[in-house]
Amino acid sequence: MSHYVVTGGAGFIGSQIVRALACAGARKIVVIDNLLTGHEANLEEVRARIDFQRADIRCYEEIAPLIRGAAVVFHEAAIPSVPRSIDDPVPSHEINIDGTFNVLRAAREGRAGRVVYAASSSAYGDTEVLPKVECMPPNPKSPYALQKLVGEYYCGVFAGVWGLQTVALRYFNVYGPRQDPSSPYSGVLSIFLRCAIERRAPVIFGDGEQSRDFTFVEDVAELNLKAASAKNVSGRMYNAGNGGRITLNQAWRLVQELEGISIAPEYGPPRAGDVRDSQADVTAAVRDLGHAPRFSFEEGMRRTLEWYRQQR
Ligand code: UD1
Repeated sequence: MSHYVVTGGAGFIGSQIVRALACAGARKIVVIDNLLTGHEANLEEVRARIDFQRADIRCYEEIAPLIRGAAVVFHEAAIPSVPRSIDDPVPSHEINIDGTFNVLRAAREGRAGRVVYAASSSAYGDTEVLPKVECMPPNPKSPYALQKLVGEYYCGVFAGVWGLQTVALRYFNVYGPRQDPSSPYSGVLSIFLRCAIERRAPVIFGDGEQSRDFTFVEDVAELNLKAASAKNVSGRMYNAGNGGRITLNQAWRLVQELEGISIAPEYGPPRAGDVRDSQADVTAAVRDLGHAPRFSFEEGMRRTLEWYRQQR
């Protein structure tokens, strides 16, 4: 295998893609990350196998030479939070939209083979029916959802107008080892697991009956590699989920069981921009990309909990 670039490669999902590439025998892996939300520690096991470049996708001149000639660019760099895009919309807009444009432009001008883009299920917003299918009209409810959708549209336009190969994967609430639980903008399961280990009650925004199709990070990385080599998919978008749906109340119950504790959650007001329910139809991803998620929610959570325990 040849030359790969992972933007956001020091992040939670990006670093998993880097490990998967290294495992598959990739010859050259360039990681682009500005370490705003990523950590070099996430790359510890593969440090000797990669070319780490501290660079910012907001700066075209910085990233263009790093992307030139890549076989595949996995574009994971983003500010990946709905509430952060509401509290502080400017960096979110600049990184998620302008940064994505820069990556696509650099890939096109540098004759990269393909861009696999981290899109978001938040683009669907609230749909009348579940599961959510790729043909449903998008209905973004937050700046973040809109920004990720614009990136997806840009992928389609770069494919259609300039012939750059692109595939967009709409991630459904990815969780797993290395997800950073330390910010108020962190993914809910990382916050739940940290609360459990520290014997604290989590705060659930709303009644806790909102649901998510939580997807284990190794399954997402695997799907990225499949999307990198699938035939006849350029310009398209696919759901990257499990096909299931778990409420926050159910998730906290499982966390308590796994940790052997009993702590009632606190409930707060619902969060602005929140989607109520999220569940992926994975038919197209299975058919066209060979998507085959391996981890049940319980198994994924066991592994994630184990990892957080070891970090302490
Ligand atoms: C998440 C991702 C986003 C991705 C999207 C679709 C994160 C940080 N964000 O957004 O990148 O594009 O899924 O896959 O992973 N909640 C609580 N208590 C908390 C934190 C959150 O009740 O302490 C609730 C939220 O209000 C929400 C749910 O948990 O209802 C999930 O929130 P979050 O983990 O932030 O993810 P999404 O907003 O769904």
